[in-house]
Amino acid sequence: MPEMILQVNHLSKSFGSHEVLKDIDFTVAPGDVTSIIGASGSGKSTLLRCINLLETPTSGEILYHGTDITGPKVNAASYRSHVGMVFQSFNLFNNMTVLENCMVGQIKVLKKSKEAARAHAMEYLEKVGMAPYINARPRQISGGQKQRVAIARALAMDPEVLLFDEPTSALDPEMVGEVLNVMQALAQEGMTMLVVTHEMAFARDVSNHVVYMNQGVICEEGTPEEVFGNPQKQETKDFLSRFRRN
Ligand SMILES: Nc1ncnc2c1ncn2[C@@H]1O[C@H](COP(=O)(O)OP(=O)(O)OP(=O)(O)O)[C@@H](O)[C@H]1O
Ligand SMILES: [Mg+2]
Repeated sequence: MPEMILQVNHLSKSFGSHEVLKDIDFTVAPGDVTSIIGASGSGKSTLLRCINLLETPTSGEILYHGTDITGPKVNAASYRSHVGMVFQSFNLFNNMTVLENCMVGQIKVLKKSKEAARAHAMEYLEKVGMAPYINARPRQISGGQKQRVAIARALAMDPEVLLFDEPTSALDPEMVGEVLNVMQALAQEGMTMLVVTHEMAFARDVSNHVVYMNQGVICEEGTPEEVFGNPQKQETKDFLSRFRRN
């Protein structure tokens, strides 16, 4: 078995008396492309936000190469340069250009020179097809373009894992494909990815591991063939059949 990048052990998270994550265990190995699917409110975003240190777990541990990152001594900015995140609502810096968005983390967190940061940012902006827009501000580009910039910004930090929280859910339908294509290319290049998604075709065709969450627990997980082709739990069958009807 390869060394795990991330290992989530007995993770629980409550907001007040509401237990949103209940004793979650799961692992991310190098090269895994894991899709997390499940109904609204099942805890998918909370799980990703815990892994990105945007929420503090109530109990349990999250090991990154064996070190628990939920402790007080962890430098969140430095950790996030290894485990980056792409959000549904892009979260670009609106007062910066496309290029500056992709440089600032490299300069502030990775302490790179402006020149090195610019060159590296350009590599990834070219990769996502956004090099012609480097001087634009986020408000001047479309949602699909913003999300491609957000992906380039995350990649420019040379992360080991990228987390995506419904990266196409805020997009007009005609822009979903351009973002999924970028993500599919990354997956094919071996990028380790953890993707919360309602795009069942992506989960089935691009990921190698599917996690179905229901009411704060991992109800079922396996290969796409297992989860989509031969689901074992009644909850999984019901969820998938609701999707197929839509
Ligand atoms: N900061 C918070 N304070 C209180 N409750 C919260 C908070 N964040 C999330 N919750 C609750 O936790 C539960 C799980 O939310 P979460 O956002 O993780 O679900 P999700 O699976 O991502 O849903 P969706 O598909 O709608 O994005 C929901 O009931 C939500 O209302
Ligand atoms: Mg969510």
